[in-house]
Amino acid sequence: MIRIKDLSFRYRGSAEYALSRINLEIPPGDFLGIIGSSGAGKSTLSYGINGVVPHHFSGDFYGEITINGLDTISAGTETIARQVGSVFQDIDAQMVASVVEDEILFGLENFKVPREEIEARLKQALAAAGISELRTRTISSLSGGQKQKVAIAAITALRPRIILLDEPTGELDPQSSRNIFAYLKELNEQFGITIIVIEQKIILLCEFVKRLALMDKGELLLEGPVPAVLRQVDTLKAAGINIPRVTDLGSKLSHRGWYPGELPHTLAQGEAMMRQVLAGEELFHAAL
Ligand SMILES: Nc1ncnc2c1ncn2[C@@H]1O[C@H](COP(=O)(O)OP(=O)(O)OP(=O)(O)O)[C@@H](O)[C@H]1O
Ligand SMILES: [Mg+2]
Repeated sequence: MIRIKDLSFRYRGSAEYALSRINLEIPPGDFLGIIGSSGAGKSTLSYGINGVVPHHFSGDFYGEITINGLDTISAGTETIARQVGSVFQDIDAQMVASVVEDEILFGLENFKVPREEIEARLKQALAAAGISELRTRTISSLSGGQKQKVAIAAITALRPRIILLDEPTGELDPQSSRNIFAYLKELNEQFGITIIVIEQKIILLCEFVKRLALMDKGELLLEGPVPAVLRQVDTLKAAGINIPRVTDLGSKLSHRGWYPGELPHTLAQGEAMMRQVLAGEELFHAAL
């Protein structure tokens, strides 16, 4: 369980708060997507959860964050890293090894995964991230997208209780992005790992996550199950979020009284909505 209580944070030297009075609970086994425009405070919030704030980036920190009962201030980043595996927005800063397999082995050995299990975990993580053929490549020779996959493989191989990913698919094509999300979902369902993912691709995000949190100007504006958050169309738009077009259409139909149901966010749901609306239309014409 992650508990964030009245969290405010201002980077040293900044006049403005990057986070203001955030209250959020993330239960075990959750799959939470964090959205918000650039500068909203998403990365800073993730730094709070993994202790990078205030341990690496100092500043004015108010409130409290606990990870399974551990206070992030007193616990320190090493201890927190055992609970929370992080894939950072800046992938290059994250890499410690020069060869792909070493990057993954480093974590597995550090986590004291039993020797006989290491090879299987390494292979499985490489395969799931779609980079089995990159195993012996040097990291410096990889593209940005390939490095993202290595970072994801290195963290997921550890199977920590919580995995935190900051825009992990930013440099990936749509198919690779889907594969990564499908893999995260599998880890969430199979091992009950809590997944927190900051992501710009909202349609993809909505398809996979259980809950959404919307950040804007350092504040947490909305938080809840995907359909409940998507219903707040005006708040999302005001915060600069490009909501899925089917959701926008659903919202308009709903405002005009043509559609009373839950707002869609996938194409299949959009199709079901249109069938319902058109069936209603036929009944209406039949009655005339
Ligand atoms: N290391 C830092 N030092 C000072 N200010 C920072 C630092 N990192 C971020 N900020 C500021 O804190 C605020 C929140 O930034 P943050 O990076 O958390 O936003 P974000 O939602 O992750 O944005 P993006 O979508 O661009 O990644 C911004 O005003 C930013 O300029
Ligand atoms: Mg960010």
